[in-house]
Amino acid sequence: VKAPEGTIVIFVLGGPGSGKGTQCNKIVKDFGFVHLSAGDLLREEQQNPNSKDGDLIKTYIKEGKIVPTEITVKLISKKMQESKSNIFLIDGFPRKLDQAECISGVTLVPMAFQHYRITTGADIWNLDSEVVEPHFILFLDCDKEVMKQRLLKRGETSGRIDDNIETIEKRFKVFEEESLPVIEYFGEKEKVHRIPCTESPDEVYLKIRPLLEGLNK
Ligand code: AP5
Repeated sequence: VKAPEGTIVIFVLGGPGSGKGTQCNKIVKDFGFVHLSAGDLLREEQQNPNSKDGDLIKTYIKEGKIVPTEITVKLISKKMQESKSNIFLIDGFPRKLDQAECISGVTLVPMAFQHYRITTGADIWNLDSEVVEPHFILFLDCDKEVMKQRLLKRGETSGRIDDNIETIEKRFKVFEEESLPVIEYFGEKEKVHRIPCTESPDEVYLKIRPLLEGLNK
């Protein structure tokens, strides 16, 4: 599939275990987006022995809490800056309203050779540039009990410090209290595609794929 011209940002949101990572892998395979998973970037940073934020990130993830926005935004921004691509699939972000508001002020500055620099509001990279809004949001809407069973099963082998029943319950609570309002925020802008996702990964993807193909038209 030929990637459309111009910068495209798509957010993939949904509860813990709704299948964000699984569906993003399928999208990347077919459409070549650069996939940035907030959770993966934070876990990578946590394991980086040179990071000053490692211990703090670990504490938040273990508690199922949202890591301070500044840390997460910095990691995503850095990856976008380093990328030569201009089509981004951002998974698990924004996860609370301050992140959504922050990204609405995000600006991508076209650099030479299709390189982009990302700026947020009044921060140090603030340059004159064009504001980029997400094209749309994929909201993977899944039954809580289904998500819980998926995560408990994955927890048997994942080694993730947050795949245990106690933390899983906390992650659901945070999702309901802090992340659902983000979906409402974008819903008001008519940018949200709600995808029911209790069926198999392939069946869920059949509902997502046409939306991506629509970007080329
Ligand atoms: P994150 O890594 O984003 O975790 P999550 O949102 O809880 O979601 P998961 O990665 O567990 O699940 P997923 O929806 O990707 O599903 P997956 O495809 O893996 O975040 C972890 C933590 O990092 C947060 O709690 C927070 O502390 C921090 N964090 C993350 N983002 C942040 C942000 N923006 N700001 C601050 N802090 C942040 O699938 C799950 C399982 O189900 C797999 O085993 C899979 O094989 C299976 N599966 C998937 N789809 C199906 C299907 N359709 N049918 C059957 N099985 C399926």
